[in-house]
Amino acid sequence: MNNLPSFSAPKITVCGTGYLGATHAICMAVMGFDVLGFDVDQHKIAQLRVGKVPFFEPGLPEKLQEALASGRLNFTTSLDEVAQFGDIHFVCVGTPQAIDSAAADLRYVDAAFSELAARITRKALLVGKSTVPIGTAARLTRMVADISPIGSELELAWNPEFLREGFAVKDTLRPDRLVFGVASEWAEAGLRRVFRPILDSGTPLIVTDLATAELVKVAANSFLATKISFINAMAEVCEATSADVTLLAEALSLDARIGGRFLKPGLGFGGGCLPKDIRAFKHRAEELGVGQAVRFLGEVDSINNRRRVRTVDLIRELAGGDLSGVRIAALGAAFKPNSDDVRDAPALDVARLLYLEGAVVTVYDPEANANAHRLYPDLNYVGSLAEAAVQADVVALLTEWEEFRQADPDRLGALVRHRRILDGRHALDPDGYTSTGWEYRALGRPYQPRTASVQQRRDGMAQPDLAHGAAAAEDRLNNLL
Ligand code: UDX
Repeated sequence: MNNLPSFSAPKITVCGTGYLGATHAICMAVMGFDVLGFDVDQHKIAQLRVGKVPFFEPGLPEKLQEALASGRLNFTTSLDEVAQFGDIHFVCVGTPQAIDSAAADLRYVDAAFSELAARITRKALLVGKSTVPIGTAARLTRMVADISPIGSELELAWNPEFLREGFAVKDTLRPDRLVFGVASEWAEAGLRRVFRPILDSGTPLIVTDLATAELVKVAANSFLATKISFINAMAEVCEATSADVTLLAEALSLDARIGGRFLKPGLGFGGGCLPKDIRAFKHRAEELGVGQAVRFLGEVDSINNRRRVRTVDLIRELAGGDLSGVRIAALGAAFKPNSDDVRDAPALDVARLLYLEGAVVTVYDPEANANAHRLYPDLNYVGSLAEAAVQADVVALLTEWEEFRQADPDRLGALVRHRRILDGRHALDPDGYTSTGWEYRALGRPYQPRTASVQQRRDGMAQPDLAHGAAAAEDRLNNLL
């Protein structure tokens, strides 16, 4: 590698300025590199240029200001500029689920690599960060070599990203680990140079081949999804007994081999990564002839979807057995707190299922109302928890924002028509609610009637048909969604 260009002060480009790309570009500039961010979306680039992060991410606006003020961060919509500027090009474009199958849609990745390859005329490194099916990097390596004016001088590496929304800055600057999938020492040296400050702070590094790097990402997300669905499967068992899934999870978490992270039962996982990544992984494994090895991911997905249906069942029970005309305060729309992302959001699915059963659903999310409205304009959206709660027959906590955790049960109770609450995320103190006259229900926890009269009313209404179970729940979800 002696006669190859070294990476003393590499100039960096980042293609795609979504959650991943914008955060990466900003953090690389904060770390001292000259960075050029690219996106085809002119509006996004215009916002970033004036210091506005186009999505909600705590801490990122401050880092953007810092990076812009340093003069090291610029943005463009010209790929020619990108090709000319960079020594190391990171590709951070989206890989959404295909419309007609479980596979990942690779059109943006393919476009980014081929368009860069056609324009770059000096030795450079292309680094994929997007989550892709195993074998994509090898295919792109061949494609790039065919297209590039400099042939195989244009090298390719894969550097999967594990950042969580809501913790994007921390996860980028202080990740748990770095993974470099490389095909040459030169590519490894380039990545080591870029991530030197992070490596110097003691972050573990695993250097792999391209395929293993791709697999690390989907395997990690599959494991996390499986852990969540495991505890939610236990919640289903609890619901058929008098067991309590929150106590079960606590007891399991104290086994150091199991641990408590990603073992929180509730409405399940959503977002732009976990759901589509497990589906794409299963699809790819089937293509590779090893579908059986990850067939369980289909069950992980089903368990997750059933939680949404079961949540609607509990809300219907709270409402007395029929949802038509029932006023519901839906607290939360984002797929998790500290995010405005509503992609595959369990909260919004529940709100929509309630609406389709005739309920009058009023949604409040501290940050995600606008995105949710774009997706489901039929629901009512309001700007505060109090407005959502006014005259509600049932309050449903669907995303565990701190604001909802902190709500005072008695003051909330003064606003509603009936004190009935469904805690979809095990985020509330049941005693605080039941002691102030609320009927409190949660997934996977035994129902404790507030008073005899409540119990009598329950006796008179339709009981949850647990026996009709998983298959029927899935059928209903498929029919409704
Ligand atoms: C995830 C991965 O964590 C991250 O490493 C990867 O880079 C991208 O995908 P993210 O989508 O931001 O990150 O969300 P995450 O914090 O992982 O939560 C995913 C979903 O699981 C959320 O809907 C959350 O509410 C749910 N969840 C999480 C649970 O239901 N229970 C848990 O115990 C943990």
